[in-house]
Amino acid sequence: MSHCIRLLSIAANLNLLILLLSAVCFCSCLSDRIPEFALTKTEESDLEETGKESVAEDDLDPEDLEVFYPTHQWQIVQTGQAVPAGLHVRLNLQTGEREARLPDDKNEKSDVKDQRKKKRLDKLDINSNSYTSQELKEALAKMKKKEKTESKREQKPNLEDVRQRFRPIEELKKEFEELNMRIETDFEVMVKLIKKFNSSTSSLDEKVAALYDLEYYVHQVDNAKDFLSLGGLQLVINGLNSTEHVLKEHAAFVLGAALSSNPKVQVEAIEGGALQNLLHVLATEQPLAVKKKALFALSSMLRHFPYAQLQFLKLGGLQVLRSLFREKGMETLYVRVVTLLYDLIVEKMLLDDSQDKEDQMEERVQQYSQVNLVPAVVEQGWCVTISNLLALPEHDTREKVLQTVRVLMAACRDRYRGDHALSTTLSVLRTEYEELVAEEQREGDKDGYFKELLSSINTIIQELR
Ligand SMILES: *[C@@H]1O[C@H](CO)[C@@H](O)[C@H](O)[C@H]1NC(C)=O
Ligand SMILES: *[C@@H]1O[C@H](CO)[C@@H](O)[C@H](O)[C@H]1NC(C)=O
Repeated sequence: MSHCIRLLSIAANLNLLILLLSAVCFCSCLSDRIPEFALTKTEESDLEETGKESVAEDDLDPEDLEVFYPTHQWQIVQTGQAVPAGLHVRLNLQTGEREARLPDDKNEKSDVKDQRKKKRLDKLDINSNSYTSQELKEALAKMKKKEKTESKREQKPNLEDVRQRFRPIEELKKEFEELNMRIETDFEVMVKLIKKFNSSTSSLDEKVAALYDLEYYVHQVDNAKDFLSLGGLQLVINGLNSTEHVLKEHAAFVLGAALSSNPKVQVEAIEGGALQNLLHVLATEQPLAVKKKALFALSSMLRHFPYAQLQFLKLGGLQVLRSLFREKGMETLYVRVVTLLYDLIVEKMLLDDSQDKEDQMEERVQQYSQVNLVPAVVEQGWCVTISNLLALPEHDTREKVLQTVRVLMAACRDRYRGDHALSTTLSVLRTEYEELVAEEQREGDKDGYFKELLSSINTIIQELR
C-alpha cells in the first residue's frame, strides 16, 4: 500500500491540499494491485525555450541550497529553492516533499499537449487550468474498471472485499466533484496574492509569503502575462527598492521567474524600470542572497532580449558586474556572472552564424548588431578576470570558465599570451585532468566528463602557442 499513490502537483493552495489529502484516503481504500495513481503536473511555461535556459541559469553552485539541480531522477526540492521552468514537479504525499526532475525526453518536452492525450491508467496529467472533474472522473472510472477485471481474474473473488473497496470510490468521486468546484484558478490565486503583497496591513512575513507563492505561479508564461496585467509586475519592480532586504530578495526572485523567456514581460519590465532597479541593487551594498536573486532576474531580463542588452551596456551594467568581483563575500556570484556573459556572447554568435537570417526579424538582427559586448568585455579587462577563475577548485566552475575562455579566445588572445600565471595554471590543470581521465578510463568510461575538460584545456594551450 505504501507506494500506491504519489499525488503530484505543487500545492500552495489550500483547496488543492484538501484534494491531495482526500486522495490519500482514497488511496488507502484501494487494493495494492493498483500500482500507482499519479496526478502529474507538467510545468508548461513555454517549454521550447525556457527549459534549457532556466536550467542553465541555476545549475552553477553545488553548495548553494537555493539552487535546484534537475536530473532525470526525481529529487526533493528544498524550501526556497528555485525550480526552473519546464520541469516536472510533484508533491510526494508519502513524504510531503516537493520533487522535480527533467522531462523524460525531447518529445515529452515539446509535446506536452500530445502527451496529455496519451494518458496512462496510472498517470493523470493535468495542467493548472484543467485538473477538471472530467479528468478525475475518467481516471477513477478507469481504475474502477481495472479493479473489476483484476478481481474477476482472481481464483476466489472475495466479493465482500471488493464491495468494501468500491463504496469509498463512489464517495470520493462525489468529494472530488465538490472539491473541484472550489478549486481556484491560478488567476484568482494571483489576484489574492498580489493584494496581500500590496496591502499596507500585511506584515512583512505575509508579504514575503505572498511573493514566495507568486514565484511559483509566474513561471507559467500565461500566468506571467496575467501577473503583468494585474499590476503585479510593477509592484515587484518597485519592491526592488524596498528598504527590507528580504522583500528585495523575493521581489527579484518573482521578477526573474516572470521574465524567463517571456518577451512580453521583458518589454514591460524594462519600461517599468526593472533594469535600473536591478543594477542599483547589484551596485550597492546588499546581502549576498539579495544580489544573487537580483543577478538571476538580470539574467532573465537580458537573455534573448537585445534591446535590454543594449540598455544594460549603456547603463554601465558591465562595470556593475565587475564591481562584484571586488566585493568580499560575493565569490559564489563569480561563476554566475561568467555564465551570463558566456550565454550572451554565444547568443549573438549563434545569430551571426545562423543561415536563415531572413527569417529573423530584421529589427532584432539590427539590435543585436548594436550590442557590442565582446569589445566592452575586452576593454574593461574581463579577459584576465575570467581566466583567473580557473584557479577555483570546482570542476563545473572550471568547465564554465574554460568554455568562456574559448569563446573569448579571438578577442583576448593577446592578453592571454602574455599571462604567465595562466600558462602555469593551464599546465597544472592539464596534469590534473590527465590523471582523472586515466582513472575514468580504467573505470570503463571512454567519453567521460574529465576527458572533455582535458580536451578544452589542450585546445586552449594550443591556441595560445
Ligand atoms: C496597491 O495599493 C495602492 C494603494 O492602496 C493602490 O492604489 C494600487 O492600485 C494597488 N496596486 C495593485 C496592483 O493592486
Ligand atoms: C528605485 O531606486 C532607484 C535608485 O535610487 C531609482 O533610480 C528608481 O527610480 C527607483 N524606482 C522606483 C520604481 O521607485
